[in-house]
Amino acid sequence: MRIVLLGAPGAGKGTQAKKLIEKYGIPQISTGDILRKAVADGTPLGKEAKSYMDKGELVPDSVVIGLVKERLAQDDCKAGFILDGFPRNTSQAETLDRVLEEMGMPLQVALSIDVDMDVLMKRLTGRRTCRQCGQMYNIYFSPPAEEGICDRCGGELYQRDDDREETIRKRLEVYQSQTAPLIEYYEKKGILRRVEGTGGIDEIFERICSILDSI
Ligand code: AP5
Repeated sequence: MRIVLLGAPGAGKGTQAKKLIEKYGIPQISTGDILRKAVADGTPLGKEAKSYMDKGELVPDSVVIGLVKERLAQDDCKAGFILDGFPRNTSQAETLDRVLEEMGMPLQVALSIDVDMDVLMKRLTGRRTCRQCGQMYNIYFSPPAEEGICDRCGGELYQRDDDREETIRKRLEVYQSQTAPLIEYYEKKGILRRVEGTGGIDEIFERICSILDSI
């Protein structure tokens, strides 16, 4: 299964991708996670990316496209993949189509997770992530049993630097102007499927699986 997950910041792309990995046994390729790791490791790429991420802007295509191409060429992507956070604009989408065609593995579905803007703000300001295992929580919707501590591994929970209200507003603006047009892009290609992204995490996962299982 070769999937692109579309959706605004906080729509639940990462949350659902982690469940899809377990069910379908295919890797998640999250450009946000790859970039955050580069920032944490202090690599030159991470230093360049950080200035854009902190402002809620997109990192230049030249940086991101290279990372994705490299990742798609790895063996575990042969059986399929879940792209999360890529593509983010039409230029990235066109490049992705070209690259996947050359590799003989075109996209099968672009799944848009649709959530109202007012819900997104609460999801993002409340998000906490485990430094150790990456498990995600939300202080409003799915808090850990003990504040600041991961239920699964006991690791420390942290708030992402770009989950401050002002930066979130910018990310939502960037989504509307640059990423939302991809819904029409994939609709024209006939591979767009939309899923209602409000409700419980498991409920949304079932909606997604019923779409994917029908493909
Ligand atoms: P990225 O990491 O991709 O962030 P994003 O798209 O803004 O998406 P998020 O990770 O914030 O949200 P999500 O949809 O994954 O939601 P989640 O599942 O975490 O990008 C960050 C930055 O990197 C960008 O701003 C840019 O600078 C750069 N970047 C990345 N890719 C790029 C690219 N291709 N080109 C250029 N730059 C790029 O859920 C959010 C919260 O809600 C969590 O707390 C979760 O527990 C909770 N939640 C989820 N589902 C539910 C539910 N159903 N009910 C209640 N709570 C829920």
